[in-house]
Amino acid sequence: MANVVVIGTQWGDEGKGKVVDLLTAHASRVVRFQGGNNAGHTLVVDGEKSIFHLIPSGILYPDKRCLIGNGVVVDPEVLLVEIIGLRKRGITVTPKRLGLSERAHLILPYHKAIDIAREKAKGKSKIGTTGRGIGPCYEDKVARVGIRTVDLTEPHVLKEKINANLEEKNFYLTNFLGAEPLEYQRIAERYLEIADQLSPFIVDVSLELDEAMERNENILFEGAQGTHLDVDHGTYPFVTSSNPVAANASIGTGIGPSRLDSIVGIVKAYTTRVGSGPFVSELTDETGHYLQKRGQEFGSTTGRPRRCGWLDMVVLRYSARINGITHLAITKLDVLTGLDSICLCTAYEHEGKMLENVPAKLSALNRCRPFYEEMDGWKEDISGAQLLEELPKNAQAYVKRIEGFVGAPVSIVSVGPGREQTILCANPFESG
Ligand code: GDP
Ligand code: IMO
Ligand code: MG
Repeated sequence: MANVVVIGTQWGDEGKGKVVDLLTAHASRVVRFQGGNNAGHTLVVDGEKSIFHLIPSGILYPDKRCLIGNGVVVDPEVLLVEIIGLRKRGITVTPKRLGLSERAHLILPYHKAIDIAREKAKGKSKIGTTGRGIGPCYEDKVARVGIRTVDLTEPHVLKEKINANLEEKNFYLTNFLGAEPLEYQRIAERYLEIADQLSPFIVDVSLELDEAMERNENILFEGAQGTHLDVDHGTYPFVTSSNPVAANASIGTGIGPSRLDSIVGIVKAYTTRVGSGPFVSELTDETGHYLQKRGQEFGSTTGRPRRCGWLDMVVLRYSARINGITHLAITKLDVLTGLDSICLCTAYEHEGKMLENVPAKLSALNRCRPFYEEMDGWKEDISGAQLLEELPKNAQAYVKRIEGFVGAPVSIVSVGPGREQTILCANPFESG
């Protein structure tokens, strides 16, 4: 039995969805533990592309169960759209296949309205959020005024809470943000309808996981976003409002940290970022455009172009430390094919000094310049490689360099978006 956590080591969109889909074959359950529908996880199976925002990326396996943990913020409208979308494709999403934690917090229309109005008010200094209401929902959770899925089972409690919250939110929306107020009746009626549709899915995720673990089943924990978007450990304030780091797999599902066995850090072979905030190895030149085009770097959630740059290994080493990474999965190696040479950022230069860590001070980070090591590229098509030895020598050297610098073994190398376009060196469920 083993429990494996998959997390992003950069700023999200590393290819977590693809890796989770692949590893689901070895687990009985896949569980999301944080974030919400700010996530966009892409899978390509038999040439068909699916993008999941809330439903765990294991849902394409008919015999696996998917769970949404207490740490996730759930926009019920988005969840229903995903369920209906899957059903239209012939994939049955019944309460037997999907469970939603009774303790997960719900996103309400006022969270989205606040998110959008705040970003507008910030103008140039905006965070570049996904506008999905993620931050305001987590704020309410911590302020102890949030609405949880369990409230859907008690209509009078649900109505009371919506009413109390809306009074305060409307005051803030209109008087401070200059936005339109929202109407109580419409929201209450809609959430009562939603309650009918979602109630059958509501379960105690913690208890279910504990029982599955007692039966020696393997559990896969699916992270969203990435370590450098973490509200504690990321490039604050240009972060999301949750903890995408591995430790939160425990809090966000209700199982003790001693039960997590392997932590798989997903590393895109170069770096991307959506939204604002520091990005030391960003390329705004032709090479940056090349990576964006070849890697099709456009957001899976908002469609925004992703900023691109060379692989930042300072960022990766930091992530290995914060998450306790036991395995690395390198994705999108094929995107680098065709480049004469490839740079790796191994340190930051700041006011004449070399830094080996990411500074917490934003003004310092903004002034950091990348220090690069250069390696020779390769021209051969690698998108069909099944073994590390089949990769050109220079591609192998690139993988080895990352492994050596970060200090964790590479278990997976992804050479294309398809499930089968993967080199599996070691199975994280078997090598804890
Ligand atoms: P996630 O948010 O971490 O799950 O990543 P996204 O799905 O947002 O973005 C990753 C994108 O890269 C998706 O379009 C994937 O289909 C694609 N992808 C994943 N692995 C590979 C790979 O090895 N090569 C290529 N070319 N594309 C990949
Ligand atoms: P996945 O799971 C990339 C970014 C947003 C913004 C910041 C805050 O697909 O890797 P938020 O809406 O969360 O308050 O926005 O975080 N962001 C992501 N960037 N991938 C994601 O998820 C992201 N989720 C949030 O672009 O900069
Ligand atoms: Mg994504």
